Amino acid sequence: MRNLKKTYDGWALVTGASSGIGKEMARELAAQKFDLILVARNQDALDQLSHELVLQHDIQTRVIALDLVQEGAAAALHAQVEDLDVGLLIASAGIDEMGPFLEKDYTDLRRMIRLNVDAPSELAHLFGTAMAAEQTPGRKRAGIILVSSLFAYQGTPNFAVYAATKAYVLTLGEALTVEMSKQGIDVLTLSPGLTATPFADGLKMNAALLPMVAQNPRRVARVGLRNLGRKMSVVSGMLNKAYAWENRLIPRSWPVYLFGFLIENAMRSYQKRIDKTPAKKASA
Ligand SMILES: NC(=O)c1ccc[n+]([C@@H]2O[C@H](COP(=O)([O-])OP(=O)(O)OC[C@H]3O[C@@H](n4cnc5c(N)ncnc54)[C@H](OP(=O)(O)O)[C@@H]3O)[C@@H](O)[C@H]2O)c1
Repeated sequence: MRNLKKTYDGWALVTGASSGIGKEMARELAAQKFDLILVARNQDALDQLSHELVLQHDIQTRVIALDLVQEGAAAALHAQVEDLDVGLLIASAGIDEMGPFLEKDYTDLRRMIRLNVDAPSELAHLFGTAMAAEQTPGRKRAGIILVSSLFAYQGTPNFAVYAATKAYVLTLGEALTVEMSKQGIDVLTLSPGLTATPFADGLKMNAALLPMVAQNPRRVARVGLRNLGRKMSVVSGMLNKAYAWENRLIPRSWPVYLFGFLIENAMRSYQKRIDKTPAKKASA
């Protein structure tokens, strides 16, 4: 793994650190001796990870259990770490709301937009401002990784709003890479495909029917950390890269129809399996 300490220093703040890709990012950064601010809602999971990383790597941690959907959460988080020099921000916290758009409760979609769009934007703004102010001649660079998705590269039926939130993150991240570079801040947008985390386990579709291979979250985290400061955006995995590239060569509508068909098929298969599962008999 590339030695990030050569380029970056200070504390690393990871949102979504209680699970999946965020947790693996935290583990990789701890192994490189970054002190860590671990953020998510699940205090127990964060405490457990903090304990593991302090014991294994002799680093400092600060655990902040916080719901990033709540109004003012990003500012509250920033205020809680104002005494620390944050040199890396990893915005991995995210959720999906799958299913037909008109069947979704808009309150749930709004929560997702707040978490997937508002939170990373505001965190990049708050911490980017502080990072830019800290940049003095001879100082190491700062870095921001925004976690998007392969679905950012196309409209995705049954993930319509989710894919749109991730397209926002990708477009934001690309522009910030150029803007912030002059201020000593590297910005990378990481777009994973299907990744074996609780996020993927919770999808209400038979993902085995999709032409995708679930990646290991540690591998995805490493792809992100390896490419920070080297690329503007990265898609993890060869097959996923091929999908993202192919989308530039064919009419925009084709992959939308294709994935619309594939996802609907995978959802039908999942529903059939659920319908066939005998209801648990009430114990006598
Ligand atoms: N797994 C995939 O197939 C896949 C594919 C493409 C993109 N992604 C993206 O990768 C990122 C990480 O997902 P993952 O796969 O690692 O999923 P995960 O294992 O479910 O992790 C999601 C993280 O987000 C945190 N989170 C959820 N709601 C939150 C809230 N309201 N406030 C603060 N934190 C919250 C969760 O912690 P708490 O529950 O403790 O709050 C958890 O740490 C997401 O942005 C996702 O969109 C994932």
